[in-house]
Amino acid sequence: MTSGTTARAPASIANLGPGFDVFGLAVNAFYDEVTLKKTKGGITIISDGSVPSSPRDNTAGIVVSNMKRRFKIGGGIEIAIRKRVPPGFGMGSSAASAAAAAVAFDRLFRLGLDPAELVEFAGTGEKASAGAIHYDNVAAAVLGGFAMVRTDPLDVIMIEPPADLRMCIAIPKIDIPKKKTRVSRGLLPKQVRFSDHIVNLSNASAMVAGFEEKDSDLIGSAIQDVIVEPARMRMIPGFSKIKDNALKAGAAGVTICGAGPSVVAFSKKSADLEKISTAMAKGFASAKTKCMTVVCKPTKGAGIRNKAKAMP
Ligand code: HSE
Repeated sequence: MTSGTTARAPASIANLGPGFDVFGLAVNAFYDEVTLKKTKGGITIISDGSVPSSPRDNTAGIVVSNMKRRFKIGGGIEIAIRKRVPPGFGMGSSAASAAAAAVAFDRLFRLGLDPAELVEFAGTGEKASAGAIHYDNVAAAVLGGFAMVRTDPLDVIMIEPPADLRMCIAIPKIDIPKKKTRVSRGLLPKQVRFSDHIVNLSNASAMVAGFEEKDSDLIGSAIQDVIVEPARMRMIPGFSKIKDNALKAGAAGVTICGAGPSVVAFSKKSADLEKISTAMAKGFASAKTKCMTVVCKPTKGAGIRNKAKAMP
């Protein structure tokens, strides 16, 4: 394949406990790359990962189709996806491809869109995997850092995370249901107790203060979710043990990573991150489940690669 316009976008952690569908954090654990190239006709997809090859089912394909239609751009486009964010494990995999596609498209056709518009287009790609548009992962993947989303109208606020914030993520080796996010959203309660709403709101508020004040301990202690976590934890083998183990090993807060089934422990650079990761792996092992662990930190959002390379 010849060169094209390539954008790269990071993995992200959605929700961060109490901020369901509102909070997102871009992390340097993995990145997807999307290269767009003008062709004579149609939208075609090539990838080195196991992603849908039909543009109608593929996150990046949907974003490109929508942007093409909105800006009345003719001709064809080849989409090459270098897939590195593991799909289906709660790390914003579809959002990374969607964000990279939106940013690459914006550059290829010199649209000059602002970040909120890029988030909005990237969000249309999320619908393919989640069944509903939610902007937490795409906001983080596009903008980087800690992102907060308001909708109607869409408004994204970003705060630069503290430099010492670290996350240990345990990614289990288990079979993932098709359309996992849709499945895990199906587990959510239709109604919540008012007292639970207050607990989550108070912790979400503390978390925002933690990011604003660059206080990683406050961020960690605000990882308290009494609504979504209890509903979803049953899809994660050994969740209670994993959480307990990580807290005992020094993590400041532990919760489900996005829609799961990965688990994320929040901590500081000065903590024993290897000990926390091992403790989490032992928690999964107690439920006879293997996992991979990765230590990561907040990162910048999607950007154009300086030199477009042939991919995949
Ligand atoms: N906020 C979404 C959820 C993120 O938890 O369902 C999924 O990627």
